[in-house]
Amino acid sequence: MTPVSEPEIRRACAVPTDPIQYSHRSGTRSAQPELPVDQLLAEIERIAALPLEDSVTLPAQAYTSHAFFDWEVENVFRKEWLCLAHVSQVPAIGDFLNVDILGESLLVIRDKSNVVRVLSRVCPHRGMDIMPPGFGYDGHSPAEVRDGVSGCGHTRLLLCPYHSWTFELDGRLKACAEMQEARGFNRDEWGLSTYRCEVWQGFVFVNLDGDAPHTVAEQYAGLGAHLDKWNLADMEVVFAREWDCPFNWKVLTENFMESYHHAGAHSQTLQPMMPARDTWTEREKSHYIRCHLPLKPALRDQIAACEARGERWDTFPPIPTVTGEDRYEWGLFLGYPSFKFLVTADCAIWYRTQPLGPDRLKLLTTMLVPKSTVKHPDFDAMLEKGSAQSVAFHLEDMEVCMAVQRGYYSSGYQRGRLSHLEMPIWLIQRYLAARARGTWPGLDREPAASQRPEKEGAAA
Ligand code: FES
Ligand SMILES: [Fe+2]
Repeated sequence: MTPVSEPEIRRACAVPTDPIQYSHRSGTRSAQPELPVDQLLAEIERIAALPLEDSVTLPAQAYTSHAFFDWEVENVFRKEWLCLAHVSQVPAIGDFLNVDILGESLLVIRDKSNVVRVLSRVCPHRGMDIMPPGFGYDGHSPAEVRDGVSGCGHTRLLLCPYHSWTFELDGRLKACAEMQEARGFNRDEWGLSTYRCEVWQGFVFVNLDGDAPHTVAEQYAGLGAHLDKWNLADMEVVFAREWDCPFNWKVLTENFMESYHHAGAHSQTLQPMMPARDTWTEREKSHYIRCHLPLKPALRDQIAACEARGERWDTFPPIPTVTGEDRYEWGLFLGYPSFKFLVTADCAIWYRTQPLGPDRLKLLTTMLVPKSTVKHPDFDAMLEKGSAQSVAFHLEDMEVCMAVQRGYYSSGYQRGRLSHLEMPIWLIQRYLAARARGTWPGLDREPAASQRPEKEGAAA
C-alpha cells in the first residue's frame, strides 16, 4: 500500500459533518438487515464451535448494531478488567490521570499513602465533573495538567469547580462550605465514588461492576510468568498519542492480534522483518491470547553479527533479561477483552481502547521502555526513531480498519473464511460466545487445537 500521512488519516477520522459521505458511520443506514441480539449471539455461538479450519468471520451486525454494542458493554466491558493506565503515568503522590470510559468519568490517582486508586470524577454534591476537559486548570483549581494527550496531571487535593467542595486524594470529602443547615449531613458520607482496581505488572485495571470473579493476577497468571523478564512495572510510558477511530473495537482488536495482514497492509514495514507466514498463536487460554511474531532468520544473523561488533541493532538498548527466542521475536498479547500490548527485545507497546459505540472508539497508542533506557545520553534520538516507526505501522492499520468498518455497512459484505494465521480472530469469537454463556473460553469445553502446537514446547 502507498503510505498515507498522519494528517490524511486524522482528516479521514474526523467527526462526520457530511451525512452522505459519512453515511457508513450510522448503523441505521446500513444496507445489512437488522439482526436481533439473541440471533446474533446464537450465530456467534454456532461459529465459535466450529473447528479453526472451518471458521468464518462474524456477521456484519456484530460491528454495526447499537443493540449489540449495548450487550457488549453490559456483558463484556463492565464485567471485565479494563486497563486504564500504567503506574509510570502517576509516579508521585498527587499525580493523576483522567480517563473517560463507557460513559464513566474516571480519575486514576496516587493518594497520600502511595496507593493508586480509581475514583469517579462525578461530584457527590450535584453531579459535576470535578475535572471536565479544559476546565479548572486556569489557576482556579490546584490541579495542573502535565500532558494533555494522556490526561496526566498533578494536584494536592481535588476541587470541584462548581461549588468548591474539596476532596482528599483518596476521594474523601475534605471541606464543603455552607452545609451546616442541611439536616443530618455528615461529611464522612459524601466522598467521590471509588471503583475496584488492581495494579498488575505496572498496569492499572478497573472493574466497573466490581464483582469480577477473578483478580487480574489470577486471570493473567500465565502471562505474568512470561512477562517477568520485561519488568513492565519498572518501565516508563515515554510516548503516547491519541486517535479518534471510526471503527468497532473488534475491528481494531482483530487487526492488532492477527499478523496475516503483514503480507498486505504492512508489506513495506513489518512483513520484511516478520513474515506473516511465520507468525503463530498459542493454544487457547481462558483469559488471554498470546501470539509469536518471529524475526526472519536473515535478521537473526544480522543481529548476531551486529552485536559481535559491539554495535546496537535495536532502536533502544536491548533488555538484558530478554533472552532466547524472546530476543528474536515480537510477543503479541490480548488480555480479554481489550488489554492489547506487545513486547520486543527493547521496548513494549500498549494500546488503550475506550469504546464509544459500535463504530467509534478512542485509542491511545503508547510506547514503554525501561527506566535505564530513559537515562541513556542518546535517548531523545532513539525515541524519535522508535515513535516514528510505531506511528508508521499504526497509520497502515488505521487505514485498513477504517475501510473494513465501511465494508460492514455494505450489501456486498460476505461472511469470509479465515486463514490459520487468523486464529486470534476465531479465539475472540470463542471468547464472545463464552461471555454469551456467562463463562470463559476453555472452561466449558476442551481446548482447541493450536495452530502450531509443536512450537509451544520451545516457547515455554
Ligand atoms: S457539584 Fe461539586 S461542589 Fe457542587
Ligand atoms: Fe497491523
